[in-house]
Amino acid sequence: MSQRRPLVAANWKMNGTLASLRPLLASVCKGIANGVKAEVAICPPYVYLGEVGRLLEQTGIALGAQNLARQDAGAYTGEIAAAMLKDYHCRYVIVGHSERRTLYGETDTVVAEKFVRAVGNELKPILCIGEYLEEREAGDTENVLARQLDTVIEKAGIAAFADAVIAYEPVWAIGTGRTATPEQAEEVHAFIRLRLARHDDKIADQLRILYGGSVKAANAKELFNMADIDGGLIGGASLQADEFLAICRAA
Ligand code: PGA
Repeated sequence: MSQRRPLVAANWKMNGTLASLRPLLASVCKGIANGVKAEVAICPPYVYLGEVGRLLEQTGIALGAQNLARQDAGAYTGEIAAAMLKDYHCRYVIVGHSERRTLYGETDTVVAEKFVRAVGNELKPILCIGEYLEEREAGDTENVLARQLDTVIEKAGIAAFADAVIAYEPVWAIGTGRTATPEQAEEVHAFIRLRLARHDDKIADQLRILYGGSVKAANAKELFNMADIDGGLIGGASLQADEFLAICRAA
């Protein structure tokens, strides 16, 4: 099995203002300097990318965006293109978060188009996939994940996954305080890896698959100890420096 360096990515979502985010970031940067082995990324709201990017210089922490447009440029008021994120030195971009899918109507096809744009602009997509509670209860988890994944593989090609990260985020676990058990998560992560291995063994083996959904300091270690869980995508807990640092240390 290949050595996959764990990644812990903070998804700040639409939280905070400069007044609260500056001290949060200062504490995180200070804490990361002491013995965190995982790769760490921060995904602030678009308008703070410049400021956060400056503060992250020389820290080894990567910058990421939470979304991008599926077009390259043009009359798309309010949208942000991949090339613009590249200008701000983003390394990562979250693609297809369940909040984008549910609240903003992003279909599997739209998500796949965004993934293609990201990779085409040398941004590493963090592709989010996950099932609703009803789907899990109906025994449909694997079908849903296969559909979400296959649409992207079809559009982007398997080679594009060499520069991607996948985040498994069961929708019922996001922001609810209800986490998947390590065994439930591992089962799905192994399924995702196998699905990719059908196309390319090596890429599947090297790909980092993060877990997301109510990860906190108290449950991070047992999740990250599972064979196919290579870090986490952290929402709520990334807004508290101590919690987030503890999660980074657990990875
Ligand atoms: P949460 O969010 O950690 O607050 O559950 C995770 C995410 O939405 O990426």
